[in-house]
Amino acid sequence: MRIILYGPPGSGKGTQGDLIEKKYGFPKVSTGDLLRRAVRERTLLGLKADGAMRQGLLVSDDIVLELLKERISQPDCRLAYVLDGYPRNIGQALSLELLETNRPETFIEIQVDEETLVARLSARRICSRCGAIYSLALRALKKDGECDLCSSDTYQRPDDRPEVIRERFRVYEQETEKIREYYRARNVYHAVDGSAPEAGVFVAVSALIDSGISRRGEARVVR
Ligand code: AP5
Repeated sequence: MRIILYGPPGSGKGTQGDLIEKKYGFPKVSTGDLLRRAVRERTLLGLKADGAMRQGLLVSDDIVLELLKERISQPDCRLAYVLDGYPRNIGQALSLELLETNRPETFIEIQVDEETLVARLSARRICSRCGAIYSLALRALKKDGECDLCSSDTYQRPDDRPEVIRERFRVYEQETEKIREYYRARNVYHAVDGSAPEAGVFVAVSALIDSGISRRGEARVVR
């Protein structure tokens, strides 16, 4: 099974992906995280991706596909995984299907209005070590600038600056309708209201996953 979390920047894909991983044991595969790691480690793919990411543009499909392929071929993705940030366009959707034809899937769009998203992204902080996602708008960190879980430094993503946020929204809007149509036609499209608190959104997301699991009789991954 694969669960695809789709939605605009800041809609909560990463947050819900982490909650799914915790509850069901399905690993979260975030192409944004894979790319940021490649940039940090200055790999060849990372160096190629860096410029587009800084500007809020999409990285080329072949670079992202290479990182994705490598990640989902790992043993922990055998039964199920959650995609956060992939696919972003029809080309990527088709590549995914070719990569793993006939893997059952559930597509969940998380819908949130733009004003809320800008506020969320401005308040987001990320742990530089464990990747935990925080919102200073929801609650302060126990110690300013430090991760509550591992005490490492937290940082603001460079693409969370207002001018880059605007560009990311523009890019998102360009592809969205085509992506919706593609997954509607496959009969796997669902939408949830992402403006509720995280736990409320997760109730809706879990209900969709549970109904997919019971329909297909797939087991949970227990850790
Ligand atoms: P990526 O990392 O995928 O960024 P994004 O899609 O812009 O999404 P975000 O990570 O910003 O937001 P999110 O929806 O995960 O929200 P989060 O849970 O963090 O991509 C970054 C870049 O990489 C792209 O611009 C592109 O250059 C490149 N890239 C990535 N994938 C690519 C691909 N497939 N092809 C080509 N290029 C690609 O939540 C946001 C904040 O809100 C947090 O602070 C969180 O705590 C808070 N929050 C979450 N849920 C709630 C809630 N319900 N209520 C209140 N606050 C909430």
